[in-house]
Amino acid sequence: MLEDCWNEDPELRWEARCMCHRFSNPTTARVQGMPCVIGALRPVGFSVQLDHLQVDDCPKYLAKSLGFALKEHPIHKQHNLNFEIQKEGVEALLEVFDKVLEYRPFDPLISKQFRQLCGRSELVPASYFISRERISTVGEHPVASGGFGDVWKGIYEGRHVAIKALRVYKRDDMRKVKRIFYKEVTMWKRFSHPNIVPFLGVTDAPAPLSMVLQWMSNGDIRHYVRRHLEADRLQLMLDICHGLQVLHTHNVVHGDLKGANILINNSGWACLIDFGLSSIASLSCTESSAHGPCGSFRWTAPELMRITESQHARPTKESDIYALAMVAIEVFTGLIPFESCKADPAVMLKVINGERPARPTEAAKLGLTDDLWDLIQSAWAQDAQHRPPVETIIDFLLRVT
Ligand SMILES: Nc1ncnc2c1ncn2[C@@H]1O[C@H](COP(=O)(O)OP(=O)(O)OP(=O)(O)O)[C@@H](O)[C@H]1O
Ligand SMILES: [Mg+2]
Repeated sequence: MLEDCWNEDPELRWEARCMCHRFSNPTTARVQGMPCVIGALRPVGFSVQLDHLQVDDCPKYLAKSLGFALKEHPIHKQHNLNFEIQKEGVEALLEVFDKVLEYRPFDPLISKQFRQLCGRSELVPASYFISRERISTVGEHPVASGGFGDVWKGIYEGRHVAIKALRVYKRDDMRKVKRIFYKEVTMWKRFSHPNIVPFLGVTDAPAPLSMVLQWMSNGDIRHYVRRHLEADRLQLMLDICHGLQVLHTHNVVHGDLKGANILINNSGWACLIDFGLSSIASLSCTESSAHGPCGSFRWTAPELMRITESQHARPTKESDIYALAMVAIEVFTGLIPFESCKADPAVMLKVINGERPARPTEAAKLGLTDDLWDLIQSAWAQDAQHRPPVETIIDFLLRVT
């Protein structure tokens, strides 16, 4: 500890407050009823580096020690970790991760390994879990249902929330879904941005895997523009782009961008939901699971549809940009893309052959100018490399709003 205090890098020197804390808390102290990280993880290599860590150490110090330990002993190489036997230690370790990520939400090494630990252990830090006693559903039935779950209205801490209860069809898939669920949802909670719907936590009712989100009383964007003809479409597009930009900046691909996954808050701002969950969606769909989330074909880029070569094609930032262009059609028309074509397979064929929605001429008065139409066309280019990054679209919209 003293060596750290004269570290070259001022960032890595101890804060006086944390030193006081450390002096007054011997390393054997129990943290929130759990032994400090060493106890249960001693059998595995990296506990050697973690044996002095306590959850209530200062975040700067925790981040440094954790980063150091994970470099030496990455989670994915921890084959000795038996999450059932060492549950207590893993829980303590998750609390350490949680505290570090609050301090540095997007540290690439720590966030990657945190997601791996959540996925492999099927556990989340205590701050992510909302017990069923603290939350209740409103009404007898879900208010909506989508590709991979039912959405219930609920009440939590006196406020309305949405509870998205995952539907899992095949019993064999449960474990896989659970792992992906814990791995992916933990990321959402770290995004605190006006154009991203706040993620409040996970719970185990009404379905064992349920997510709790802030309730968005104005519903999804397509229905919103149909009800609010006066809505500023360019501003809504800008909101969506800002939400997408923050994801892309942190190398998170949305993977299921479409009007139904863009909700409008009380102030009329567009906010994104359901990012990073496309892998759960494809697991829990009964058919066509290899081609992106079911029900989202109209927003799926052609490179993700090539059945023979790309069984494992994953969404990318470029496929998000393609979906964004399709969302623009929804925002300017209030209709889904290729609205007149009723069958999804027919839409797929059109897209693979390079066909795109026709220009909605009546949308000119809503701000769909020639320049914006050109930009939309480049955003759904057949060749993913020709699509502009979201920043280019933001620059354009900022000039015209
Ligand atoms: N936080 C929320 N607040 C209010 N309504 C919500 C919320 N989350 C979802 N909904 C409603 O539930 C509907 C269905 O959402 P859901 O995500 O389950 O399905 P989807 O978006 O159509 O498909 P996918 O499973 O591919 O995401 C949304 O369109 C929206 O109307
Ligand atoms: Mg959705």
